[in-house]
Amino acid sequence: MRILAIGGGGREHAIVEALARSEHDIYACMGNSNPGSARRAKEFLLVNEKDVAKVVEYAVAKGIELAVVGPEAPLEVGIADALETAGIPTASPTKAAARIETSKSFARELMLRRKIEGRTKFVVATDMDQVRSAVDDLGEDVVVKPSGLTGGKGVKVYGEHLMSREDIIGYATDILDRRIGGRAQLVIEEKLIGEEFTLQAFCDGETLVPMPAVQDHKRAFEGDAGPNTGGMGSYSQSGGLLPFLSSDDYDASVGIMRGVIEALRAEGSEYKGVLYGQFMLTREGPKVVEFNARLGDPEAMNVLTILDADFAAVCERMAGGNLAGMDVSFASMSTVCKYVVPEGYGTKPLAGEEIRIDETAIANEGAVLYYANVNADEGRVLTTTSRSAGIVGVAKEIADAERIAESAIQHVSGRIAVRHDIGKQAMLESRVQHMKEVRGGSR
Ligand code: AMP
Ligand code: GLY
Repeated sequence: MRILAIGGGGREHAIVEALARSEHDIYACMGNSNPGSARRAKEFLLVNEKDVAKVVEYAVAKGIELAVVGPEAPLEVGIADALETAGIPTASPTKAAARIETSKSFARELMLRRKIEGRTKFVVATDMDQVRSAVDDLGEDVVVKPSGLTGGKGVKVYGEHLMSREDIIGYATDILDRRIGGRAQLVIEEKLIGEEFTLQAFCDGETLVPMPAVQDHKRAFEGDAGPNTGGMGSYSQSGGLLPFLSSDDYDASVGIMRGVIEALRAEGSEYKGVLYGQFMLTREGPKVVEFNARLGDPEAMNVLTILDADFAAVCERMAGGNLAGMDVSFASMSTVCKYVVPEGYGTKPLAGEEIRIDETAIANEGAVLYYANVNADEGRVLTTTSRSAGIVGVAKEIADAERIAESAIQHVSGRIAVRHDIGKQAMLESRVQHMKEVRGGSR
């Protein structure tokens, strides 16, 4: 089969590797020349991933038979709709279904309308009177989010980024005046207390097949300090749960995601592709932080590395609506993914710097390397302002997977940064301890 993967990051290199495991011809459309995807692909096109017309033209010219979209931005501009219209089955949601990510107000209102579990109190506001009355109702312990896409960087939390009612009002004014996220609309919601985790699932419009849970680390610096980023690294535990996550919590989260798929179907926006649930495990169980209409980055690298099933076949069935009955299993292994990022990532990343990656030495450590948003340039690898490479260790125990990832990172050099604490025992224990406190606490 001729399969097109769209996107040039670590997630997309992992997608390309997983597709290529079953002897297909892979094509890629990407905004940067990811050396990993480029090497694995039969051919690729350097293109703005949101340029729907160019991507579809390329797909048609190459006789593409199946497409998979990595990032959210092309989904928001209807790339899946356009590919499908051109007769190319696509394992990613339409523009309407992707609103579950591209409009935070839509996601919250859908959950409320359809009485889906895991809800938080929220208010959608388009003017400052609504903002002020929302703060009167919800109190100051809130989170303020632009309704539109901000690459994971638009959310501000009371007690972290916002310290007073004035700060809340100030940020809300900013969002509305400057149309942060592309529109003058925001969501103010109750601040959730607990441990965050990611649950991803394959969906074909009706059937939902969940993957192992993953915990990402969004903050730029060790000890969860510094600004929010796209994600600095992530781990998963053999068996699919996490050290602080029980099977009841996992099942409840799957139930919430099923509710979303049913709701979208009932409302005429059938959802095909990977659905990503970001959850907060609170004292009252899992609550939804947000949904994404795609695999997570870095979370894709955790799950696709241990997917036993034929990923191309899974994608074909997501697109075709016949996922039911397919055996989609994962190896019973733990994974730790650490992102190598340019120095300054999170504030002022150093773009255009050379980094050196000794692929052979990394393979000899038993780790898996995924290139991310870098550019191949005459044999050199140059950074961009985004993340550079994901390194994944796989082992029965998280601790061993972490050691493998760490040993492999020694073979990457240049002006880079890494969060070495991800997946380490001390970090895992602090998560478990935090969850104990939350369960015993007042919320
Ligand atoms: P999002 O872009 O919605 O994933 O938000 C980015 C980050 O903001 C999340 O990963 C959380 O850490 C935090 N966040 C978002 N919504 C909430 C909430 N309701 N309560 C607490 N933290 C939140
Ligand atoms: N790791 C967070 C995301 O992919 O949105």
